[in-house]
Amino acid sequence: MSDGGISYRWFNPRGDKVLVRNFAHCHEEIIRPEIADKWKTCRVCNESWSRKKEPFLESIGFMHCGIPVVDVWSVDSFVTYIFDKINPMTGATCWLACKDGQVIGYCWGFMENLDNLEDRLDAPGLTRFIKRKFGDFETVAFQDRIGVLEAYRKMGIATALFSRRLGNFIESDMKVGITLLSRKTASFVLDWYKSRGYVPIYDFKDSNGNIIVARSLEGLIF
Ligand SMILES: CC(C)(COP(=O)(O)OP(=O)(O)OC[C@H]1O[C@@H](n2cnc3c(N)ncnc32)[C@H](O)[C@@H]1OP(=O)(O)O)[C@@H](O)C(=O)NCCC(=O)NCCS
Repeated sequence: MSDGGISYRWFNPRGDKVLVRNFAHCHEEIIRPEIADKWKTCRVCNESWSRKKEPFLESIGFMHCGIPVVDVWSVDSFVTYIFDKINPMTGATCWLACKDGQVIGYCWGFMENLDNLEDRLDAPGLTRFIKRKFGDFETVAFQDRIGVLEAYRKMGIATALFSRRLGNFIESDMKVGITLLSRKTASFVLDWYKSRGYVPIYDFKDSNGNIIVARSLEGLIF
């Protein structure tokens, strides 16, 4: 599918090992502000350090809690993550927006068991809140990341990616869509979800303003 030189393609990391690295570079550019203060991390205690702390890390031989510190973000770890998460056999789905052979936007999500989601997001009571509001089922459609390179924003690309991904979830008979947002990184995104019928369902009341929004997918049309 092509629109103004932009094409939208359903992406399976198993089928396209070259494009996944191109995708990783697009993601790195989009999340650069988020990872600016985090360069290395300790996998044991989760402490992280910015590049400014390089002399300190050198002084401890880049070791912490008895093991080497690792990059917070790297192309290789992203490729491993995407390969693991985006497995179409488990109902995961990923769409890319491409222009002139380059990835300029992406959107991915997966089906997730409610109890796993509650643990993964560290949101005690989430399963109960969702069941009370939407009914008794075990799996939800979790919208993970969505991003568009700055030069291509406000052209409807995120909306186009999102609706394609959502279409896959509806085809898979998912009844509820859910996502985690930060009011700090993109406050307008919360308004965008609200205008499409998503309601805040869990407020972490943390410094990032993290919030979970959800809606029934039945009858949702973009
Ligand atoms: C959020 C993001 C994906 C939006 O991409 P986009 O392609 O510009 O979005 P669209 O053009 O489809 O616009 C979607 C809606 O948001 C609005 N919008 C987009 N950018 C906006 C901005 N900076 N301020 C206010 N509203 C904005 C649009 O007007 C549109 O609203 P409407 O459909 O009600 O008219 C993009 O800004 C981005 O990549 N941000 C960084 C990553 C991020 O924050 N991701 C979200 C959390 S994972």
